[in-house]
Amino acid sequence: MSDAAIAVKEKKTGINKKGVPLYAGFHKYFETTDKTDPIKCVGRVNRVHGLLIESRGPQAVIGEICKIEIPSFNKKTIMAEVVGLHAETVQLMSYEETDGLEIGCRVIASGSRLEVGVTPKLLGRVLDPLGKPLDNKGGIETADKYPAMASPPNPVNRRRISERLCTGVRAIDGMLAIGRGQRIGIFSGSGVGKSTLLGMIARNTNADVNVVALIGERGRELNDFIAKDLGPDGLARSVIVVTPSNSPPLSRLRGAYVATAIAEYFRDQGLDVMLLFDSITRFARAQREIGLASGEPSATRGYPPSMFDSMPKLLERCGTSEKGTITGIYTVLVDGDDLDEPVADTVRGILDGHIVLSRNLARHYHYPAIDVLDSISRLASTVSGPQTQKAAGLLRRHLAVYAEAEDLINVGAYKEGSNLQIDQAISKREALENFLTQTVEDRAPLADTLKTMAEISGIEIPAEEMETPPVKEAKINLADSGDDEYYDEDDSGQIIPADPEAAASVPEAVNPDAAAVSAAAVPEAGTVTEASVFSEAAAAPSMDDIDLPLIDL
Ligand SMILES: Nc1ncnc2c1ncn2[C@@H]1O[C@H](COP(=O)(O)OP(=O)(O)OP(=O)(O)O)[C@@H](O)[C@H]1O
Ligand SMILES: [Mg+2]
Repeated sequence: MSDAAIAVKEKKTGINKKGVPLYAGFHKYFETTDKTDPIKCVGRVNRVHGLLIESRGPQAVIGEICKIEIPSFNKKTIMAEVVGLHAETVQLMSYEETDGLEIGCRVIASGSRLEVGVTPKLLGRVLDPLGKPLDNKGGIETADKYPAMASPPNPVNRRRISERLCTGVRAIDGMLAIGRGQRIGIFSGSGVGKSTLLGMIARNTNADVNVVALIGERGRELNDFIAKDLGPDGLARSVIVVTPSNSPPLSRLRGAYVATAIAEYFRDQGLDVMLLFDSITRFARAQREIGLASGEPSATRGYPPSMFDSMPKLLERCGTSEKGTITGIYTVLVDGDDLDEPVADTVRGILDGHIVLSRNLARHYHYPAIDVLDSISRLASTVSGPQTQKAAGLLRRHLAVYAEAEDLINVGAYKEGSNLQIDQAISKREALENFLTQTVEDRAPLADTLKTMAEISGIEIPAEEMETPPVKEAKINLADSGDDEYYDEDDSGQIIPADPEAAASVPEAVNPDAAAVSAAAVPEAGTVTEASVFSEAAAAPSMDDIDLPLIDL
C-alpha cells in the first residue's frame, strides 16, 4: 500500500497504522468545520418559467449547487444548479421534479459544484445522475470526490494509443479494430440494434472496468441491461449511471458528466476503462432544452450553440492519460437515418471512428447490423498487425465488389468468369456473411476471429498478432479497496484496525470510531444528536444536517 493511500486511510479512520488515534479522533470534525461556511445566505424563488427557476439571491456562482425547500409536499428539498445570473436574479435549473414549488420558497447555496464520491466500491452499483446509489444496496462511504465537470487531460501528456481492445464482436475486432483509449460512435436510426450491440460489447470486452451511462433512454432497459447483457460477472466490474428519459434535462446532462468523472477516477488508478454511453443524442437534446429555456438562439435544426460547445468538452475527457485509458463507445441516434444531421455530424467529427448500423441489414436479420463499408476505425491500422490489416483490407474489397455488382448478380445478368474480382467476391460471400453475423449470446475470442479471417482471405496471420493483454483484475478486487495490512472491514463494511490489540489500546472516549464500532446500537442514519455526532463512525456529520443560521438577502 502506497504512503499516499495509507495517509488517506489514516485521515478517514483517525487511526494511524499502529492503531493509535490521530488528533484524538476529532480530526474529521475539524475538517468539516474548516470546509463549512457557518452562515448561509438564502434567496427566495420569485419566478418559475418553464424549466427555469428564478430567485432573488442567494449569492452563488455559475454551476453551484443550491437546495430549494418546498414546504408543501412534506417539506421536500430539491437540488438545483445555477445556470445563469442577471443582476440580483439567480437562474436555476432543477435536477429533480419541481412539483409543489411556489413563489417564496427558500433557495440555499451550497458553496460547491457537482462532485461525485469515488471508490472501488462503486463497482457493481447502480447510481443516479448525482452519483447516489439507486440499487438499495446501502450507501457508498468515501471521502474522495471527483468534480463532475472537469477538463480533459493535457494533450501533451496523453499516451499514444497502441494496444488493441477486444470487444468479442467479430465484425468489430476483425474489420474495425479498436484501440484502448479510442472513442468511437455507434450510429443508426431507432431500433436497428445500437443498445443490443453496446450490451454485447459490455459483456465480452476485456477492459478492466466498464462504466455504463444510460442517459435519457427507456427506464425498462436498465434491468434488461443488467440481467441480460452484463450478468453477475459483468456487473461486478461495472458501474452504471442511469438517467431515464422522463428525468429533467439537467439531470440527463449531469448524468453524462458524472459517468465520465467515474471513468476518470478508474483511469487514474491505472486501469483500462470502457465507457459505454447510450445515448449521446439524448445528451445533446437535453443541452438543447436547457439552452433554449435559458434564452439561447437556435443555430442548426433547433440546436443552440451551447450544444456544439458542450459536445467536445464531454467527449475529449475520454481517451488516454498518463496513467490509464478510457475507451469511449457512444451510441448516436440518427434522426431519420440521416447521417449528416447536426448531432451525428458533430459527434462523427470529434470521435476517432464510427460504426454505422444499417436498417437494410437489420431487415435481412443480419445482426449485428454493422455496415462495414460505411464504418471506419481511425486507429485500426495502429492497433492491428500488418497481416491482420492485409486480410481485413482484402475482405473489405470482396464486400465492396459484391455490393457494386449485386444488382447484376440478382437479376442474373452477371456471367461467371467475366470478372475475376466479382467471381472471388461471390465465392467468399457466404463465408463473409457467417463471419459478420453473430448471435447476442455468442462471444468471439480475438484468436478465433483472426483465424477465421485468415481462412476466408487466404492470408496467414501470425500468432503474435492474436495476443491480447490480460485483464488487470487484482486492482479491482471488490472485497477490499487496497492491499491493506493495517485495516479490515467488519460485517457492516466499517473500517476497523486489523490488529485487535492495537484497537483495544485505543481508549473509546477519545476515539469516536472505535466507540462506534463497539457500540451495540448505532443511531439511525441522518439523525444528528449531540451523542450521535460523537459516535457516528463512518464520517463526520454533514453540516447540511445541522440547522445553521439562515440570512435572507
Ligand atoms: N444482435 C441482434 N440479434 C437479434 N435481434 C436484434 C439484435 N440487435 C437488435 N435486434 C432487434 O432489434 C430490436 C431493437 O434493438 P435495440 O433496442 O438494440 O435498437 P436501438 O438502435 O438501441 O433502438 P433505439 O434507437 O430505439 O434505442 C431488438 O429488440 C431486437 O429485436
Ligand atoms: Mg437503444
